[in-house]
Amino acid sequence: MAKIIGGLGTSHIPAIGNAIHKGLQEQPYWKPFFDGFPPIRQWIALEKPDVMVIFYNDHGLNFFLDKMPTFAIGAAPQYVNSDEGWGIPSLEPLKGEIDLSWEIINSLIDKEFDVVTCQEMLVDHACSLPLKLFYPEGNYPVTVVPVCINTVQFPLPKASRVYALGKAVGAAVAAWNSDKKVAFVASGGLSHQLDGERAGFINKEFDLKFMESLISNPEWATQFSIHELVEKTGTQGVELLAWLAMRAALTAAQGSGVRKVHSNYHIPISNTATGVLALETF
Ligand code: DHB
Ligand code: FE
Repeated sequence: MAKIIGGLGTSHIPAIGNAIHKGLQEQPYWKPFFDGFPPIRQWIALEKPDVMVIFYNDHGLNFFLDKMPTFAIGAAPQYVNSDEGWGIPSLEPLKGEIDLSWEIINSLIDKEFDVVTCQEMLVDHACSLPLKLFYPEGNYPVTVVPVCINTVQFPLPKASRVYALGKAVGAAVAAWNSDKKVAFVASGGLSHQLDGERAGFINKEFDLKFMESLISNPEWATQFSIHELVEKTGTQGVELLAWLAMRAALTAAQGSGVRKVHSNYHIPISNTATGVLALETF
């Protein structure tokens, strides 16, 4: 059976891609953000995941407002990253783990999650940036399964539903007949709002409580309605649903618990409160 080794969460901001491209990691603006990653990379180098199941939201590269699935799962041999207009270099295509994609899709449909199945799928900065941050040298030694959650256009799935989805994805991975090591990745958040009257909104107190809850009380955020989450985290802060799915997926791990490897929180990068978190199963 596949082994669930842990979960990684990170914010995804296109400006990070520019900073990497221009080599600005040591500059005072960027250092407190990039300093969050060496311990995460150490854990990855030690644990050597074979596969990453990435919970994220698409921002209009693959799904536009005219066709917006609530949940979509990639089942492609590769996922092409493409220019979104942010001026960041696009990444080499991510290699798919098709066998696991179908394991997850079949299992989810059987459990009455009517997911969209994507045998072709472009992936945007929400998939490319975490990999670039985890493996700065490139040439990613992992295959991926992208799991896309709509956090962009209402109606959005509520937190409790996303938690249930994450649990179901975790169970499918745990049942996968493979000796591969699997890590879950959450891409998005934390609090931020890019538009409207509250542009620039950040909620440090909520973000820190949310990150803490993922360690000790993972269902905590499911008490909030989606509108409450928007109020507390901003219109784009609801991207933190991906973190909830990642944590829920870890509940399917074979061991008895989940512990923190490392976390970092820094405000702001661009308009966003950035978080990074690594959890391991034991
Ligand atoms: C920013 C944040 C995001 O989550 C995103 O997808 C794009 C931009 C920002 O803060 O600039
Ligand atoms: Fe985003």
